[in-house]
Amino acid sequence: MRILVIHGPNLNLLGRREPDVYGKQTLADIDADLAAAAAELDVSLDVFQSNHEGELIDRIQQAMGVADGILINPGGYTHSSVALRDALAATALPIVEVHLSNVFAREPFRHHSYVSPIALGVVSGLGARGYRYGLDALVRHARGAQSRA
Ligand code: DQA
Repeated sequence: MRILVIHGPNLNLLGRREPDVYGKQTLADIDADLAAAAAELDVSLDVFQSNHEGELIDRIQQAMGVADGILINPGGYTHSSVALRDALAATALPIVEVHLSNVFAREPFRHHSYVSPIALGVVSGLGARGYRYGLDALVRHARGAQSRA
């Protein structure tokens, strides 16, 4: 089983960026933790970060027919990008949306997500551990789908 992990804009700055909101862990820390979780779950991960909407869309399109699910923190594009949502929907893959912060406890413009309506589920506000929870849920779901096929 193969899972694509997508980190959106500004997440390359984790650890230095508003640590009171996003925590002290760097993106490398999160990726290392996800790699350990993936080994435990016996799945392969492809990990991609970009600050550019088109690059994120290109990478998501490449997952069609290759990946079994997508774990994504779309960063600020969560609240603005119809094109990113369309790319995710086009893959017809199960999607889990992750946010480090609790977007619903923040500014009103963060309360709407273009991705949530097409996601299997959303993890928001549980910090870096949220990626692990999201990966676990995605893999369980995808395994269930495989065994029903
Ligand atoms: C975020 C929340 C978004 O609103 C914000 O634009 C981000 C990070 C989070 O992980 O909490 O860049 O997705």
